[in-house]
Amino acid sequence: MDLKAPKGKLGVLIPGLGAVSTTFIAGVDAIIKKQTPPIGSLTQMGTIRLGKRTENRSPKIKDFVPLAELSDLVFGAWDIFKEDAYQAACNAQVLSPPDLEQAREALEKIKPMSAVFDHEYVKNIDGPNKKSAATKMQLAEMLMEDIENFRKTNGTTRDVMIWCASTEAYIEPTEIHSSLEKFEAALRNNDPLIAPSMIYAYAALKSGVPFLMGAPNLAVDTLAIQELAMAQGLPIAGKDFKTGQTLIKTILAPGLKSRMLGVEGWFSTNILGNRDGEVLDDPMSFRSKEVSKKGALDYILQPDTYPDLYKDLYHKVRINYYPPRGDQKEGWDNIDIFGWMGYKMQIKIDFLCRDSILAAPIVLDLVLFTDLALRNNMRGIQEWLSFYFKAPMVAPNLYPEHDLFIQLTKLKNTLRWMMGEELITHLGHEYYDSYE
Ligand SMILES: NC(=O)c1ccc[n+]([C@@H]2O[C@H](COP(=O)([O-])OP(=O)(O)OC[C@H]3O[C@@H](n4cnc5c(N)ncnc54)[C@H](O)[C@@H]3O)[C@@H](O)[C@H]2O)c1
Repeated sequence: MDLKAPKGKLGVLIPGLGAVSTTFIAGVDAIIKKQTPPIGSLTQMGTIRLGKRTENRSPKIKDFVPLAELSDLVFGAWDIFKEDAYQAACNAQVLSPPDLEQAREALEKIKPMSAVFDHEYVKNIDGPNKKSAATKMQLAEMLMEDIENFRKTNGTTRDVMIWCASTEAYIEPTEIHSSLEKFEAALRNNDPLIAPSMIYAYAALKSGVPFLMGAPNLAVDTLAIQELAMAQGLPIAGKDFKTGQTLIKTILAPGLKSRMLGVEGWFSTNILGNRDGEVLDDPMSFRSKEVSKKGALDYILQPDTYPDLYKDLYHKVRINYYPPRGDQKEGWDNIDIFGWMGYKMQIKIDFLCRDSILAAPIVLDLVLFTDLALRNNMRGIQEWLSFYFKAPMVAPNLYPEHDLFIQLTKLKNTLRWMMGEELITHLGHEYYDSYE
């Protein structure tokens, strides 16, 4: 293992200067200034047990693995709107006016570069700050120039790109996404099946920058982009940040299954009024979200393995755009379960959640862990980061692991493995040998 130290500045390149990204940047500034603890961030607050329980070794993760310091992060962004990050954060209405004021200086510095955007992929919004070129390949080259300029201006030694822009219309992979060669030809031919997020991913990887997908867009799920990541020796991960309702689902469902309780139906509905909600009001963007949100239960509950418990599970997900709520989403779950002798019970959840508050620490952790993976020469899909995603990426012949607790065990064991520590199995029989 050849784990390099995090020397110098780490560039955080963000397509999408909206609610999530501005809340993330403002929060990092507040943490650096010690105005708030880094709540919700595993890299900053989490600990990791090493060795036997009797050894009492549980350092903080950030003291165990060499992560970049928050003060070494520098931010760059692209958006279709021209407002700087302060204005964008004011529009997003996630943070209170006093919090916005405290972060004003840090936010005002970030002015969005012009975006690669295609209205066909995001129907419900449009803006003036866009690139235009004859081909999609030329658009990719313009993004590569942006990355190069950002690096020079900020003197970064490594960079990570993380998609915090809108959810694009649902598409399935086709022949043009099946290899890098076909994908590059399609970029030159302006193929309509190449979405903007794929152009960003391509430009990032070509520039030596790892790519993370925070929305349910196809991008890094294509074989072409995965081939490029492997060829460039770069990590990729996705997709769709696991916040809100799906977070709760992947906390609760493993618990019900572990006790062999049946689930007959799971109805999830949301109201939200931010720009994300506006975008998701378009049926094609909603379809991307729906597919990403619905996968988790099937994989966790394994209806084929437990037909008596989950074969007839009816799972429905609804998202309703309701402007008065802004970013303060409300998510309801009605879960129809059954127990011993088939007797029925119900669970109701009403989660008054704040989407961007839940997403911001995920962005931070993903950036820091991906930079760690980069310095550790880990390339391709980073399955150990599944913990953060609604639709985690896996190798083509594997099924994804959605159970939050298995995901956390995998993440921590990966950190132990990176640092040459013993993996933890939780077997623990040795503690009882002395009773013999
Ligand atoms: N907040 C959460 O809990 C959560 C969870 C999972 C996924 N996500 C996803 O994260 C993304 C960001 O969420 P948000 O609440 O910040 O949304 P937002 O609408 O506030 O911000 C997205 C920004 O992206 C910009 N944009 C759209 N297309 C672009 C492009 N091609 N290039 C550059 N900029 C572009 C928009 O103008 C907007 O400013 C969404 O796709 C959302 O679905 C959010």
